[in-house]
Amino acid sequence: MSQAQVMNFLNEVAMKFPDAISFAAGRPHAKFLNHSNWERHQAVFTDYIAEQRGISFATAANQICHYGPSAGIINPIIQKYLANDEDIQVDEANIVITNGCQEALLLACLNELKAPSDCALTIDPSYVGFSAMVNTLGKRVEPLELHKLTDIQQTPFQFNWDYLKEKVAQLKQQNITAKLLYINPDFNNPLAYQLSLRERQELLNICHELNLRIIEDDPYSRFRFTNSRQPSLKNLDNFGLVYHIGSFSKTFCPGVRIGYIVPPNEVIAQALATIKSLTSVNTSSISQSVIGGWLIEQQYSLNNWMKPINQHYSNQCHAMQTALTENFQHYEDIKWNSPSGGFFYVIKTPFDFTKEHVTACAKQNKVICMPVSFFSLSPQIWDRYVRLSFSYYDPDKIHEGVTNFSRYLARHS
Ligand SMILES: Cc1ncc(COP(=O)(O)O)c(C=O)c1O
Repeated sequence: MSQAQVMNFLNEVAMKFPDAISFAAGRPHAKFLNHSNWERHQAVFTDYIAEQRGISFATAANQICHYGPSAGIINPIIQKYLANDEDIQVDEANIVITNGCQEALLLACLNELKAPSDCALTIDPSYVGFSAMVNTLGKRVEPLELHKLTDIQQTPFQFNWDYLKEKVAQLKQQNITAKLLYINPDFNNPLAYQLSLRERQELLNICHELNLRIIEDDPYSRFRFTNSRQPSLKNLDNFGLVYHIGSFSKTFCPGVRIGYIVPPNEVIAQALATIKSLTSVNTSSISQSVIGGWLIEQQYSLNNWMKPINQHYSNQCHAMQTALTENFQHYEDIKWNSPSGGFFYVIKTPFDFTKEHVTACAKQNKVICMPVSFFSLSPQIWDRYVRLSFSYYDPDKIHEGVTNFSRYLARHS
């Protein structure tokens, strides 16, 4: 199965077994999907535009309803949010508002991968929406195998970037130019790791040496259950290498489709806006106004907003930990990680957990899991790993799902 077919496959399984508990998708909990205050958020943003432009509320509302600038209309608001919460100081002209992280990834790749010999590197396994997207563009994506960067038996992982240098040199010998590296450094999807400060600094130094730009994909860093905060790569970047990409899909709701990209400089931001004018014209100004008004109401910071959400997800994470311990503590060959944030657990299973097992487990034990091999360009290394998302269900359902999963593993071991 190609990476592009993974999402279809999982959707089909979920549709075929609608009563199965699905740990497959990284979906926010229904309790945190914000739909009741949209009109108020839009009114707040419309007031803001009216004041900024010295026009009436009705005229501002009309302007918002029209086509808008490709770079976006909430850029000054995102600028303040980034300065307050992420310690990222950028001019608003260096921000492009996108249709989630996904479009931001596309824009960065279209800007960087121009020559046929250019390629993107992705840590493997990684979010399939990156590698499958690069393939769909007809561009080259090369795996940077995680098991060559770190010992995958040891958690937390400790990265050594020497293999990155080797890989770039090997590609050069084949006349392939590595232009950028994709990484999701905080509470990674699918493996839930988080890079340490030292690993971030070393990565930046090596990428500078290798003339590699970095795409920092950051949908999960706000979901922290301990004081595990690390500075973003963008925040540490003294070389002008990083495209920082963020999203409100998980903090507000995925349906709003609002994300942003902060490229290495303003010239690149203009280039991205030009590309965007040809891919989606502009990001929905209706959605932008919802997010803009919400952030104004939050005084340009999500620090308070995230407190109850993180408390909730931390309880769910703990519930999964408890269920895993209860069900698997006596199995020597079943291991799992201890995430301190994000949405995911990773379980090492006693046998290869294939596509067929996904369907059989959904059918027989009413639980849907995500094989980590689905995220990998060298799947055999990851055949025994499964990703379980704890974000969507309350603790009792999490317990039921993990127990069902353990029954399936016991029957097939
Ligand atoms: C690592 C990663 N990047 C990007 C995305 C896409 O996010 P968005 O909804 O902002 O497009 C996801 C979605 O789950 C993700 O896990």
